[in-house]
Amino acid sequence: MTGKETFGDLKKLAVSLLENPYNQTEIERIIDQIHVHFQEITKITGFDLNIEHLAAVPTAKGKALGLNYAAQCLLDYKRTTRFLKAIVYAIRDKQKVYPNELIHVFYAGCGPYAPFVTLVAHFFKPEEVNFSLLDINKNALESSKNLISTLGLEDYIQEFYLADAVTFKVPNPNTFHILISETLDALLYRECYVPIVFNLLPQFNKNITLIPENVQINLKLLAKPNKDSDCLEEDAGTILDVRKAISSYTGDSNILSQLPEKIVNLKSMNIDRYKSTLIETQVHIYNDIWLYRNESSLTLPLEIMLEQPFLKSSIVFTYHLEPEVELKCRFQ
Ligand SMILES: C[S@@+](CC[C@H](N)C(=O)[O-])C[C@H]1O[C@@H](n2cnc3c(N)ncnc32)[C@H](O)[C@@H]1O
Repeated sequence: MTGKETFGDLKKLAVSLLENPYNQTEIERIIDQIHVHFQEITKITGFDLNIEHLAAVPTAKGKALGLNYAAQCLLDYKRTTRFLKAIVYAIRDKQKVYPNELIHVFYAGCGPYAPFVTLVAHFFKPEEVNFSLLDINKNALESSKNLISTLGLEDYIQEFYLADAVTFKVPNPNTFHILISETLDALLYRECYVPIVFNLLPQFNKNITLIPENVQINLKLLAKPNKDSDCLEEDAGTILDVRKAISSYTGDSNILSQLPEKIVNLKSMNIDRYKSTLIETQVHIYNDIWLYRNESSLTLPLEIMLEQPFLKSSIVFTYHLEPEVELKCRFQ
């Protein structure tokens, strides 16, 4: 297939993904076909046994996924479909607010396929939307450049940056309307979404739309099963709300090593009723588009059993940015 033929086929696939309410099997078939095209052009399958493609890349705070894993994200089917929808809708919404303006998108962490350009561009003309792409992984950025030029999408591109989004200073930040950074994992473990958003978001105009718009980590308590109920789940509050954490922080994000502790008081609860806690991640992508528990690898929950008899009075959660990016918890 020529680049033009592939472009035509990709357009059909992207449109059917966005516009038809297919069942999961059909969505997987469409994305698998998109993956075949991306692999043919980039020669990156996401499953190569090449050490350079497996290794995570260290950043100023946190780790960037290895190239293979970044490619495999495409196959996280609900994630890819919902992000695609969110980004197309966000651009259309910006067009309503800024009619006749070129909509500028800053895409931090494009990976080897830059799917939120190479699948999104089909819905717009180059005079309508323009992307700046950044990745810390040289091979990912080169692969995206190659894919974009083979598909003839160069007119949609303003700039490519090989840089660490945790420390990057965006040139002319006030010109951007949308910031995309899908650089996260379940429980916001290791990857850089939090330090990236802490660094980038304050640089832009306050009307910038961030995608994903927010990530929340919530605590649930799972009751011991009894003969009346299987396993009752109770809400025990939010451990971390990234957007709230950012808006309440006024210091320099470069020196931020952890977020304020979140203490969950267990004394007032009848804790003996519970067998475990469940920590879940919810990704708020855009408006009413979310990823909920178990819908994606980004929202896999973690269950922690409660030792019996349980004698502690609280759980303390701390989200660390140094020396590693991770949520830690202790009972006290
Ligand atoms: C989860 S992959 C997503 C790739 C692609 N956007 C997609 O949705 O399929 C995240 C990408 O972000 C890049 N990345 C992670 N942390 C980064 C950082 N601090 N600076 C620049 N790029 C980063 C990784 O190299 C990887 O290519």
